[in-house]
Order: sequence, then structure tokens, then C-alpha cells
Amino acid sequence: MESSRLFSTILFLYTIILSISSIICTENNNNLVTDQAALFVFGDSLFDVGNNNYINTTTRSNFFPYGQTFFKFPTGRVSDGRLITDFIAEKAWLPLIPPNLQPGNSNSQLTYGVNFASAGAGALVETFPGTSTKKRKFGFLNMGAYECAPPSLILDPTNIGSCSKPVAELINLHNKKFPDALNRLQRELSGFRYALHDYHTSLLDRINNPSKYGFKVGQMGCCGSGPFRGINTCGGRMGQNYELCENVNDYLFFDSSHLTEKAHQQIAELVWSGPPNVTGPYNLKALFELN
Ligand SMILES: *[C@@H]1O[C@H](CO)[C@@H](O)[C@H](O)[C@H]1NC(C)=O
Ligand SMILES: *[C@@H]1O[C@H](CO)[C@@H](O)[C@H](O)[C@H]1NC(C)=O
Repeated sequence: MESSRLFSTILFLYTIILSISSIICTENNNNLVTDQAALFVFGDSLFDVGNNNYINTTTRSNFFPYGQTFFKFPTGRVSDGRLITDFIAEKAWLPLIPPNLQPGNSNSQLTYGVNFASAGAGALVETFPGTSTKKRKFGFLNMGAYECAPPSLILDPTNIGSCSKPVAELINLHNKKFPDALNRLQRELSGFRYALHDYHTSLLDRINNPSKYGFKVGQMGCCGSGPFRGINTCGGRMGQNYELCENVNDYLFFDSSHLTEKAHQQIAELVWSGPPNVTGPYNLKALFELN
């Protein structure tokens, strides 16, 4: 029991550490259609639009109830509907960006961008096409307040319902150093411009004050099992039983650690056009418009 708890803790930490590399890269590349903005997406399950369908991973989400809200079928997105990057593509007047591993999605179709994010692995980054262009525009999210996500609330059996201090320490360490690293990149790489969204603050505020954002439930997942539905059994993963909430629009979290489409839409709005204390020094809209 103890060792399985430890294992799931490590699995969870691994998932959030991968999101260090969650970046959205926008660029005008000469190999692409002239003056056509494109969106390349890297990261973990937060941004995976279905690459996990094509690799052998236990984090696949290509089954009901994933995808139930918008697509009406499971696309592999780890949510009930669209992800942050889907909304951003929409705002940038781009079509939905397909997963890199989707068959038939050859390099000739790179026109609008590709999504390399995978819930299962970081190794997909190897397939990243050359980005040796003058304009280097990137969007980043810092690490969200996953110390207060449902799985963290049940990590310490003697303190169920409290945010996890060890997880918070890791996340805070990353989030403290991240802006300095980006600053340094900006000084060292000519043409490097970026948007950094303070996802930690925006997620924490929604967990603590769900009603302020139109949610009824901030701490508990819509789909899963155990206290706070913090055990990731959504969709019957690993043959286990799970509960599914009645109204997904009431919830911030869809499964134990991934947000609902409604939450993704709100975060996308902040990444796209948030003020400088929320997304800075540029927001993504400003980056897209920057020459
Ligand atoms: C996927 O992984 C499982 C367990 O690691 C293995 O038994 C199975 O053969 C793999 N399937 C494919 C298609 O590689
Ligand atoms: C950003 O600044 C505005 C006013 O300038 C303030 O109302 C808001 O709370 C700030 N947001 C954060 C996340 O600090």
C-alpha cells in the first residue's frame, strides 16, 4: 500500500515536471507559407491533442468520457473538450493544430503548425523541425498550483484535504527560477521574445474561489474516484470503477489533475490577452502581432 502510494506520487511529480517544457512556439518560417503564422506546441498532457493515441503509454485518454463535451468522441485530449492550445489556435485564426503522430500528417502539412505535446513522453521533442529563424517567439506557462490539485490533497493520509507542501516546494522552486532563465534567454538570443503566463496564480485562485469564475467545485475532479476524486481512474483506467459528475460545467478539474474545457477557455483568454501582471512581458496576442 505504502509503495503503491509512493509510486503514484512519483508518477504525478513526473507529470508536472514534464510540464516545465510546456511551451507554445509561434513563428513565421520561410519553409512555410509566406506570412502565415504557425503554432508549434510542445509539452505534456496539458497540451496533448492526441499524440498519446499513437504511442504505447498508460496515460492514453482515447476513451469515454474524455472528449464528451465538444468533440463528442475521445480524441486523446486529456479533458472533456478543447485544450488551452485549441482556444489559442482559434484566436490566432488557425485551424485546430493536429497531433504530430497522426498518420498522414506529413511535413508538407506543417502550414499551420503541429502539436508535439504528449501525455506519455517527452522524447517527441526529437522530431521538432528546424527553427533557425530570426523571429523566435515563444509562449510559456509556469507550473500550475498542482500542490492543491485533487491528487495532492490526498497524498498525506493524515492530512487529507490540505495542499501538499513537498509538491509546493518543487513547483515554487521552478517558478522562482523560470523568469530568470527566460530573461537570460532574451539577453542571449537575439530576436527572442516571449509570453509567460502566471498559471500558478490563475489556477490557485480558481481552486480557492471557484464561484468567482463560474464554477461550483474547485477542489474535486468531475471524473475519478476516492476523496476529491483524486485517484485517476477516469474512464475505467486500469479496469477500475470511477464516478462521473453530472454537470461538467460546475467543475474546474475534469479528471484528477486535468482541467475542464471551460477552465481551459479561461486560461487561454489570459494567455492570449492577459495584462502584464498575468501574462508578460508580452501576451500571446502581442507576440502574434509583433513584426
Ligand atoms: C504496449 O506495452 C505493453 C506493456 O508494456 C506490452 O505488453 C504491449 O505489447 C505493448 N504494445 C505494443 C503495440 O507495443
Ligand atoms: C493585475 O493587476 C490588476 C490591476 O492592475 C489587479 O486588479 C489584478 O488583481 C492583478 N492580477 C494579479 C494576478 O496580480
